[in-house]
Amino acid sequence: MTRFLDNMKLSALATAIAFAAMASAQESGGSSSAASAGAAQQAAEAAELKELAPLFAKLHKMTMAHGTIMCLAFVIFFPAGSFVIRLGKFKGAIYVHAAIQMFAYMMAIAGMGMGSWIAHAPKKLGRRTLFHEYHPIIGYTIIAALVFQPALGALHHAVYVREGRRSIWSYLHVWWGRIVLTLAIIQGGLGLRFANNTHGGKIAYGVVAGLVWISWLGVAVWHDTKKAKTQTVVEKRSDSEEMTPIGG
Ligand code: HEM
Ligand code: HEM
Repeated sequence: MTRFLDNMKLSALATAIAFAAMASAQESGGSSSAASAGAAQQAAEAAELKELAPLFAKLHKMTMAHGTIMCLAFVIFFPAGSFVIRLGKFKGAIYVHAAIQMFAYMMAIAGMGMGSWIAHAPKKLGRRTLFHEYHPIIGYTIIAALVFQPALGALHHAVYVREGRRSIWSYLHVWWGRIVLTLAIIQGGLGLRFANNTHGGKIAYGVVAGLVWISWLGVAVWHDTKKAKTQTVVEKRSDSEEMTPIGG
């Protein structure tokens, strides 16, 4: 149930209660014509709600689809792409990483389209859109923040192939990716709150997203420390090689 639907349901309920109260007050006051006017208005309200039912149904489906596609992209696919680059010991792991990340990014862009439709929906009922809310604002920031990731990844790869070392592009790509994807995983939880999802839904998301994040971070830290150690060993070895007298 979306927050917007909740609000609509509440206001419809409030109207119904108000009319019922008005009708009973008027009945006890003896004015039956006013009571029937109230009942007619109530019937008109119900007819209007019935007319709006298809819009509400679409809104509900769209919110579920938006939440699902975003969670799949940020909690399953992007972390899977990170695991591939760290644990994939096969030739071409970088291309699999690039393909998974690009696929996940396209999913997120589709999700952004759905999110925009949902945020715009209240306008159809003469209400304020949801674009000013934190969730959509953070969402657009996340999608925009990832726009240079593919180019950074490609730049890192080009330098790495040529010079066999990490460059500024590597650190930007890896750390910007880690920061923005972490923010996006938190954003999923905020989305569930924003949409008034069930308590169970929020807990389930928290557990799965938390486990995925911790394992991803664990693998990343393990990889970085391993890389730093190998680098130190290589540097020490080349230092001692330089100091060893030739032929000694
Ligand atoms: C890109 C811009 C985004 C926009 C415009 C947007 C907009 C929205 C809107 C309007 C809702 C429904 C709130 C309601 O019904 O009251 C929503 C729900 C949600 N959003 Fe977003 N969102 C965006 C990005 C994201 C991102 C990056 C995530 C990350 C995972 C995300 C995850 C969710 C989730 C999980 C829900 C709850 C769905 C449900 O409970 O069925 N959204 N979003
Ligand atoms: C939206 C697209 C992308 C995102 C979000 C992304 C994200 C990431 C992240 C988070 C990492 C670090 C994994 C970790 O935590 O240890 C990473 C590493 C890497 N990515 Fe991407 N990536 C994207 C696209 C690409 C592309 C298109 C390429 C190549 C053409 C690429 C090449 C690499 C490489 C080579 C590494 C390892 C870098 C190193 O260890 O120095 N990525 N990526």
